[in-house]
Amino acid sequence: MAERVIPIADQRAPVLQPVVPVVDACQAPSGLLLDARGRPLRDLRISVTDRCNFRCSYCMPKEVFDQHYRYLPHGDLLSFEEITRVARLFLAHGVRKLRLTGGEPLLRKDLERLVEQLAALRTVDGRAPDLTLTTNGSLLARKARALKAAGLSRVTVSLDSLDDAVFRRMNDMDFPVAGVLEGIAAARDAGFDHLKVNMVVKRGTNDHEIPAMARYFRGTGITLRFIEYMDVGATNGWRMDQVLPSAQVIARLQAELPLVPLAASAPGETAKRWGWAGPDGRHDPALGEIGVISSVTQAFCGDCNRARLSMEGRLYLCLFASQGWDLRSLLRGGVSDEQLLGAVAGIWGQRSDRYSELRASLPADSGSSGTRRIEMSYIGG
Ligand code: GTP
Ligand code: 5AD
Ligand code: SF4
Ligand code: SF4
Repeated sequence: MAERVIPIADQRAPVLQPVVPVVDACQAPSGLLLDARGRPLRDLRISVTDRCNFRCSYCMPKEVFDQHYRYLPHGDLLSFEEITRVARLFLAHGVRKLRLTGGEPLLRKDLERLVEQLAALRTVDGRAPDLTLTTNGSLLARKARALKAAGLSRVTVSLDSLDDAVFRRMNDMDFPVAGVLEGIAAARDAGFDHLKVNMVVKRGTNDHEIPAMARYFRGTGITLRFIEYMDVGATNGWRMDQVLPSAQVIARLQAELPLVPLAASAPGETAKRWGWAGPDGRHDPALGEIGVISSVTQAFCGDCNRARLSMEGRLYLCLFASQGWDLRSLLRGGVSDEQLLGAVAGIWGQRSDRYSELRASLPADSGSSGTRRIEMSYIGG
């Protein structure tokens, strides 16, 4: 296959250069792209900013993300038009779900304009994509209506505790629980249903809050998910003894209120679902469900269908990757849609990442520039 090399302008982090096929070597996208392990590409997570107004210690610890930290200049970020072009091509390759993340995505100015552009795209079977957003909720009260009007389908809010002192400590910006609850309420009022709340569980920090969180959201129609604290990135000082295995989350909850396992709702899902049981011992839909995301104790790489696009246009094939593929240089280098489609097909086709499955047998992160893993704040959840 003929190819041309495009120079790389930015060497901030290790970057991989995609192979750009000549147009007549490109196959038309079939809507089903399989990686080297036979996993389809279904989910594109788009990070729109590397900034956040929180400093959660498991994600953006203050000691690293202080006043000296160099965030990307605006010109390095993909424009909304560039993001929409990439998303359109990924949808042609079979993607069905688009998730906007950050940092904190609502810090990106006029995000609703991007939402509007993405909502107008279609999957290969002619449907609107499942267009969703992960946010810390702090700006949601202000933005919920505009996001709904722009065509956002769903919202997931991060909230690690209902105890104000614990939460203020965890976000390390003294942000109150009430501000996030206000955001959640505003999202409901704006017409978002199927809201989800993500709680990262850190043993010894907020695990005592598990029952209170569960009781608070039970019967509200909001799905609470408990996330095992992960060794993502290279700055959070992760330790295995700070992980509370999801099996223990379920056991603790079962001791108070009955739960029954539910079937997966989609292949490749991150969360295992559990339903609250009624007096007959069966799932009572009125009480709703919870989820556990057990990337540490029960890896789910086997059918991982997620690709991640950073705010500067690098494509990452795993949350734990240390290198990304530079799509921005292609976008700005004048390649055609067909060539971009071909480049993406080539990248996905050779993918074999399964970090969480391999975690146990890998050496500890060396922190050197070649192997230093990307940060969650850079690539989003
Ligand atoms: P829904 O479609 O709303 O269910 O989204 P989701 O299940 O993809 O969940 P979400 O984007 O809210 O992710 C929840 C959390 O799961 C993230 O914050 C991460 O902690 C974790 N997570 C998501 N995707 C991956 C992944 O590909 N690998 C690993 N190891 N963890 C992931
Ligand atoms: N482990 C697990 N989840 C994390 N998140 C951020 N850092 C980690 C980590 N180390 C989650 C946040 C939020 C999403 C953006 O990513 O809780 O839900
Ligand atoms: Fe910000 Fe979310 Fe990271 Fe917390 S977890 S610092 S809210 S991006
Ligand atoms: Fe996918 Fe990597 Fe997460 Fe495994 S660790 S589920 S391959 S993103």
